[in-house]
Amino acid sequence: MVVRPYRPSDREAVRRICYLTGYMGDPVDWLWPDAESFSDMFSGYYTDVEPESAFVAEVGGAVSGYLLGCVDTRRAWNPARVAVRHAFLRGLAFRPGTGRVIWRAVADGVLSVASGKPMPAPFLDDRFPAHLHIDLLPSARGSGVGAALMRRWLDHLAGKGVPGCHLETMSENERAVVFFEAMGFEPTGDPVVVPGWRARTGGRHHIQVMVRALAQQPPGP
Ligand SMILES: CC(C)(COP(=O)(O)OP(=O)(O)OC[C@H]1O[C@@H](n2cnc3c(N)ncnc32)[C@H](O)[C@@H]1OP(=O)(O)O)[C@@H](O)C(=O)NCCC(=O)NCCS
Repeated sequence: MVVRPYRPSDREAVRRICYLTGYMGDPVDWLWPDAESFSDMFSGYYTDVEPESAFVAEVGGAVSGYLLGCVDTRRAWNPARVAVRHAFLRGLAFRPGTGRVIWRAVADGVLSVASGKPMPAPFLDDRFPAHLHIDLLPSARGSGVGAALMRRWLDHLAGKGVPGCHLETMSENERAVVFFEAMGFEPTGDPVVVPGWRARTGGRHHIQVMVRALAQQPPGP
């Protein structure tokens, strides 16, 4: 296993892994049948704007996972805005699978506002300005690859003097929550319902923000 910085030639592998692991580690095609928009939402900024904060893991010579990072969350694309662009410019709002999620999200949002429930919002906290996404193909899980990517990322942040990092995960993704806790992250705030998203059983999903402070070091070269 090799953890190394992202290269432009990794872009298609990263986008493929993003879609193949997009539903809490499983393929997301059954819920969101459009790989291009999904990868744009969750990997586009990191590969195309901030590639210096991205790392990949090669297992057996093939890119099998990634950690996509952002040092300052204020610069990152908001996935909801990316989704709206695809919804109307590429017509996803009017296709059966994606349209169902989009219009359900609108309805969920209206109901949340009407009933005074919180809506997901970007987590902006100067103590934890960085954030990350990490995903491995199933064959690469459970043997220390995630921990190796995370160490590389935390070293990268500490070298830049970044004070802390956060991430968002589904609270239903229990294996991921356990992994992040093992990596020193802790939940902050209450889980917030994800508009439009549903489990196969129809159940709701919730976003949990997790944070980790970093030891301060002088900025690197
Ligand atoms: C979550 C993920 C990145 C973890 O990477 P990984 O390589 O499988 O994890 P590691 O083998 O490095 O495990 C590191 C530590 O995390 C904990 N951990 C990881 N997976 C665990 C599991 N299934 N159950 C319990 N603890 C687990 C353990 O403490 C482990 O340390 P140990 O092996 O010394 O006991 C990876 O499994 C994955 O990509 N999952 C699917 C996608 C996903 O859910 N991504 C997060 C979305 S927010």
